[in-house]
Amino acid sequence: MNDVVLTGDRPTGPLHLGHYFGSLANRVELQGRYPMYVLVADYQVITDRDTPGEIRRNTTDLVLDYLAVGIDPARAVIFQHSAIPELNQLMLPFLSLVSVAELRRNPTVKDEIAHSSQRAVSGLMFTYPVHQAADILFCKGTLVPVGKDQLPHVEVTRLVARRFNERYGPVFPLPEAMMGEHPLLKGLDGGKMSKSRGNAIALSATEDETAALIRKARTDAERHITFDEERRPEVANLLTLAGLCLGRSPRELAEEIGDGGAATLKRVTTEAVNEFLRPIRKRRAELGEGDARRILAEGNERARERAVLTLEEVRQAMGF
Ligand code: TRP
Repeated sequence: MNDVVLTGDRPTGPLHLGHYFGSLANRVELQGRYPMYVLVADYQVITDRDTPGEIRRNTTDLVLDYLAVGIDPARAVIFQHSAIPELNQLMLPFLSLVSVAELRRNPTVKDEIAHSSQRAVSGLMFTYPVHQAADILFCKGTLVPVGKDQLPHVEVTRLVARRFNERYGPVFPLPEAMMGEHPLLKGLDGGKMSKSRGNAIALSATEDETAALIRKARTDAERHITFDEERRPEVANLLTLAGLCLGRSPRELAEEIGDGGAATLKRVTTEAVNEFLRPIRKRRAELGEGDARRILAEGNERARERAVLTLEEVRQAMGF
């Protein structure tokens, strides 16, 4: 079986350490082993907000984050929705393959609607998972490295692929989600790590910003540091973060810190994170917006060639 990896992110702001350990590290690991496409999902930005906002800036920043962590444009095709008309055109036949009831049942969409600040829920909010199926199927992606919240969308993709093949003949593989093996990193306040909550360390954060964020991180009143995810989630989260950055077990770190208390825990974590981010910051500093634009233009061209072939195959199979 010729596996193809496809994954991507919405360009809505800087990627953070949660993204790194949750998915970026995995992509760096997978590139070169499989053909890989990395999507800047720019059209998906307008699912839960009225306008794309600073879309050009966010797009180049996202590409710079990718390059800084070591995604290699020689081994991965980095591209964007808005540059690939043929990918977007797949959405129309794909929409005909799913029912409104199925679209309404998607738990991730339901959750996003519940947390959206928009006055009205748009049609795109219900249909973007089908657009995401086009993202995955345009290149006949088979492996989709994503977090747990994306599993319903991979299910929609499988449904679309299966129904298309049943109605029109075998064109698409049935893709599989690939879940990260790392523990979910929580934010520095113990909640879900998210840039909008101000509890995330961006990959582009400076040393001082990083130190300030960790200084403010929540801990608890017990002096002796132990690794106890149930009873002491905030302390455990800092230990997990430091452990991931150092490649060491959080339990062992806790034993070493012991009576050093929260102050030592924070110092160790700050040093670990800053040391870890050093080469990422260095690579980023060597790159500019022009590099991001050029790499995106090259990736868009390659992705488009692929999309043209798939759309042609789809139209043939359907008899157009
Ligand atoms: N929905 C994903 C997110 O919000 C981004 C995304 C768009 C994606 N298209 C994709 C992820 C295709 C994997 C495959 O993070």
